[in-house]
Amino acid sequence: MSDNPTPGRISTTISEEELHRIEEMAAGVPHPLPISDDEKAPLMKEIGRLLVQQDAVLVAHYYVDDDLQELALKTGGHVADSLEMARFGHDHPAQTLIVAGVRFMGETAKILNPEKRVLMVENDATCSLDLSCPIDRFSQYCDAHPDRKVVVYANTSAEVKARSDWVVTSGIALDIVRHLHNQGEKIIWAPDRHLGDYIQHQTGADMLLWGGVCVVHDEYRSKELQQMIKQYPDAMVLVHPESPRSIIQLADVVGSTTTLINAVQQSEAKRFIVATDRGIFYKMHAVAGEKELFEAPTSGKGASCVSCGHCPWMAINTLQKLRDILVNGGKTIEIDNKIIEKAVVPIRRMLDFAQQREVDMKVRGDA
Ligand code: 13P
Ligand code: SF4
Repeated sequence: MSDNPTPGRISTTISEEELHRIEEMAAGVPHPLPISDDEKAPLMKEIGRLLVQQDAVLVAHYYVDDDLQELALKTGGHVADSLEMARFGHDHPAQTLIVAGVRFMGETAKILNPEKRVLMVENDATCSLDLSCPIDRFSQYCDAHPDRKVVVYANTSAEVKARSDWVVTSGIALDIVRHLHNQGEKIIWAPDRHLGDYIQHQTGADMLLWGGVCVVHDEYRSKELQQMIKQYPDAMVLVHPESPRSIIQLADVVGSTTTLINAVQQSEAKRFIVATDRGIFYKMHAVAGEKELFEAPTSGKGASCVSCGHCPWMAINTLQKLRDILVNGGKTIEIDNKIIEKAVVPIRRMLDFAQQREVDMKVRGDA
């Protein structure tokens, strides 16, 4: 757990023991074996051919392995944050969507495209936030606070989304909660306590926070980060808002994966300390290869998250597994139609809001 517990109104619906069990699960995820460059080139070629044959497109998150990001870009797929992944999968004409990321991303793709075949590169890739928010308990909690709008982070199950009024990603959460707050709404926020705390402080909204954490971002350490900042005083500090408040307070830029990549590309700074999964370095190097990137310090080997600074579930997405599902047929994502009908409403609400936000930004000349 983080060195600085979040103050504020955090629900007790998830206990420290349960969080600890989830951390242990993350620590127990096996590390995939690296492959050699000699194996990589033919494998990529074979996968490219199979994707075309099967009318399939690869949609990858910024945190997955460099090879999968490279392959997605080379084969006409997409590498993006979770909001853009959802949008791309929805707009692309391919009949099969293959998601390199974690389960909630595949489920979101299926909810938005029930007629398509949706596969995960790795079916067991989950997320500590999703695990921390079981539907039964969450539903009871919502029932106990009927006067509040239910806003859930995309990192949740299809059932939890179906119980919500709004689904948000880190790229749009702040604007949506600000909008609801301006309308006088009170909010239940789930499941990430740190992101909820950050949004609460930025907007002043009345929010009850579920107690989940991301096993990766929760491991950043403020004392060590302060030392690093002293060591590199010219470096810009970039932080994903799933990090604890003590880390966010040290940031120059706080935002979604896309916001952090844009900051590296657009800022004058030459050095960056990055407090988010190091998978993102692939894209950051691609947009600004001459700039120097440092991983923000975590609690290292002693931490419960064995692969500190890298999501253990994102890490189990590999080229070999992608080839195997294309050759042998993977397990498709299946979600009950009744759940899809309900879950699609708050997801569409988010996508419509995002579209309107873009229009407004263009009108204001910000885009
Ligand atoms: P983004 O929405 O910024 O892509 O983040 C998703 C995620 O799981 C971060 O840990
Ligand atoms: Fe979930 Fe954290 Fe992994 Fe993102 S980095 S998928 S929030 S466990």
